[in-house]
Amino acid sequence: AKNVGILAMEIYFPPTCIQQEVLEAHDGASKGKYTIGLGQDCMAFCSEVEDVISMSMTAVTSLLEKYGVDPKQIGRLEVGSETVLDKSKSIKTFLMPIFEKYGNTDIEGVDSSNACYGGTAALFNCVNWVESNSWDGRYGLVVCTDSAVYAEGPARPTGGAAAIAMLIGPNAPIVFESKLRASHMAHAYDFYKPDLASEYPVVDGKLSQTCYLMALDSCYKSFCQKFEKMDGKKFSVNDADYFVFHSPYNKLVQKSFARLLFNDFLQSASTIDEAAKEKLAPFSSLSSDESYQSRDLEKAAQQVAKPFYDAKVQPSTLIPKQVGNMYTASLYAAFASLINNKSSTLAGQRVILFSYGSGLTSTMFSLRLNEGQQPFTLSNINSIMNVSSKLKSRHEVAPEKFVETMKIMEHRYGGKDFVTNKDCSLLAPGTYYLTEVDSKYRRFYAKK
Ligand code: ACO
Repeated sequence: AKNVGILAMEIYFPPTCIQQEVLEAHDGASKGKYTIGLGQDCMAFCSEVEDVISMSMTAVTSLLEKYGVDPKQIGRLEVGSETVLDKSKSIKTFLMPIFEKYGNTDIEGVDSSNACYGGTAALFNCVNWVESNSWDGRYGLVVCTDSAVYAEGPARPTGGAAAIAMLIGPNAPIVFESKLRASHMAHAYDFYKPDLASEYPVVDGKLSQTCYLMALDSCYKSFCQKFEKMDGKKFSVNDADYFVFHSPYNKLVQKSFARLLFNDFLQSASTIDEAAKEKLAPFSSLSSDESYQSRDLEKAAQQVAKPFYDAKVQPSTLIPKQVGNMYTASLYAAFASLINNKSSTLAGQRVILFSYGSGLTSTMFSLRLNEGQQPFTLSNINSIMNVSSKLKSRHEVAPEKFVETMKIMEHRYGGKDFVTNKDCSLLAPGTYYLTEVDSKYRRFYAKK
């Protein structure tokens, strides 16, 4: 198969959300901490009728319907998620009724999990499958789905929720440059979920930021080496049109991109002019450990990066700023934002993505875009995802209501023998929702 990649995308996020400005005041944080300090505008969350399974059902059925894909044409289905509702039964199996109905049970793949990286693992599995000898000519389907919730405290504003479905096959408008992939995997306790009775992670916020930046540096270095080997010339941020990052919160994305320019400076790459060289020169002899601690370097690099950031990164920040950290879906929601902002001008462009999952796993990889063929075109993907109107039609709740919902969800997590309030008045038609968990922990869903 040639030009394997993403043929179609659909995104779903809950209509319930809270403005960061409102949450900030409610939490007694200093004004501007969540909005300017973290760079976030709004945060989506699941109400008691939604979860990672209902969101993925919605995303998958909507994708199949809107692009007119026959469910029998799916040969592989992979889910990436770090939200555990069952320690054995995969989320993928909950999606099978969609295909069983059409007599298709011949579908490979299960779930992949490692923090926010599971979606990327699932995506690579599907792309590799289509590129391999085991491919049977049908499509792969990837679902990234998570509900990111944190205990009360500094991490709470960095939650979010969404599901993204992506159809994988040949002759795609979004093509993987499969030779251009660089990973960094290591052992760290930056963010993990050892308490199986709680949905909340244990998180060392500062360490997780440093781990993220170290992983980014390592991936970028080896990505640049691989590029140079292939193309015979040095890579700099000028060799890609856009950079898309896993986005726990926007400030980290700003710092991350600045870090790439610092790397370019250390490699004497062409992006760095005399003025930039002068700004960054004082930091050239820092050890790498020191460089992660230096606030002055952070500031200088962000200054140098600013014009590049506005052109190459800013267009991918909309959904992550509006919805929050969607864990496995975060990177692909950022990519969806880029399509939403730039769809008509993306053909011919190269986009570099950076996926990070705590614990830790990370990969930098490259996509080449072209307009594609109906119905799998960039403009069709843009109009089907319909991001702006989905964002606009959301329902903002008061902080008391948000906190109350978090309490209900804490209580329900891992629970059995309850029915939900079945209030789906805020959900769009076609949205799946949770109605009941019975005495044997079996989950039941309905479609609005
Ligand atoms: N106005 C403007 N900016 C402000 C204000 C204010 N009133 N108050 C604080 N700030 C700035 C701070 O200076 C800081 O910015 P800086 O880093 O550029 O200096 C930023 O707001 C955050 O303030 P901190 O005091 O650093 O925040 P805190 O430590 O309380 O929490 C954290 C932030 C660590 C990110 C927390 O939200 C968290 O733990 N989140 C979850 C972990 C996470 O997302 N990690 C990312 C990678 S791993 C993953 O994807 C899960």
